[in-house]
Amino acid sequence: MGRAKIEEMTKQRVKVRVPDLLKMKRSGQKITMLTAYDATMALLLDRAGIDVILVGDSLGMVVLGEETTVGVTLDMMTHHCRAVANGATTALVVADLPFLTYQTSTADAVRNAGRLIQQGRAAAVKLEGGVSIAETVRALVNAGIPVMGHVGLLPQSVHLLGGFHAVGKNSREAEQVVQDAHALEEAGAFAVVLECVSDELAKRVTEELSIPTIGIGSGPHCDGQVLVSYDAFGLYQGFVPRFVKRYADLGATMTEAARAYIDEVRSGAFPSADHSLSPSTAATLSK
Ligand code: KIV
Repeated sequence: MGRAKIEEMTKQRVKVRVPDLLKMKRSGQKITMLTAYDATMALLLDRAGIDVILVGDSLGMVVLGEETTVGVTLDMMTHHCRAVANGATTALVVADLPFLTYQTSTADAVRNAGRLIQQGRAAAVKLEGGVSIAETVRALVNAGIPVMGHVGLLPQSVHLLGGFHAVGKNSREAEQVVQDAHALEEAGAFAVVLECVSDELAKRVTEELSIPTIGIGSGPHCDGQVLVSYDAFGLYQGFVPRFVKRYADLGATMTEAARAYIDEVRSGAFPSADHSLSPSTAATLSK
């Protein structure tokens, strides 16, 4: 598809708002969500027609090189969220509340979520947990802040869980996931991410809830899907789970491009006359 066609489609698209996700579930239209952490990535995803951009705290791992998400702070999230909001024109921007910014008290949760909305320019926040954070979700919604829930594998609890692994393998765990999802819906969440639960469990939760489910590693029955863009596009060079489909290998493309640049600088092939300023072109830097 040509650039002009893409620009035309972007112009025709209307801003995605929180209630649109419920309409999509009701009409059977799958919700698409990808992560972004800066304005350029957000602009590119937005241009492709993504419904929701998640400023995930996966930021800590794929951008900042940490082993887990627990070191991500509210300052980091606010900074990156503002950049994403600057790049996203039509997609709904949702930002993760990082570890320990909402578990300490509902007042902390409202204040910290408010920062992501006011300074980060997010339209909604995402929190990990179910029954245990239902009161917090209610307080946020009462304060006018839309909440996306997140159940199943909870990366912020990695130390308690002893690692990243699938959830709901036995009936007790599965029942907990169902209860958590219901608690979030009752507390006023507008959607729930289901991370690393079985296809059957995701199907059951999706059928039982009236709000949309957005799956990651949770099979095809969810109302939508989310992936970490750095995983899906081959940018992240660390461990990538089996459920991720690689849609591109941008990591290899960038390394190749960098090699070509290095070779050309060393050989003197770059910059050529085309990429140098002559007296007649010196006044302008545009192409
Ligand atoms: O932080 C993140 O990117 C997420 C997704 C994995 C859903 O929470």
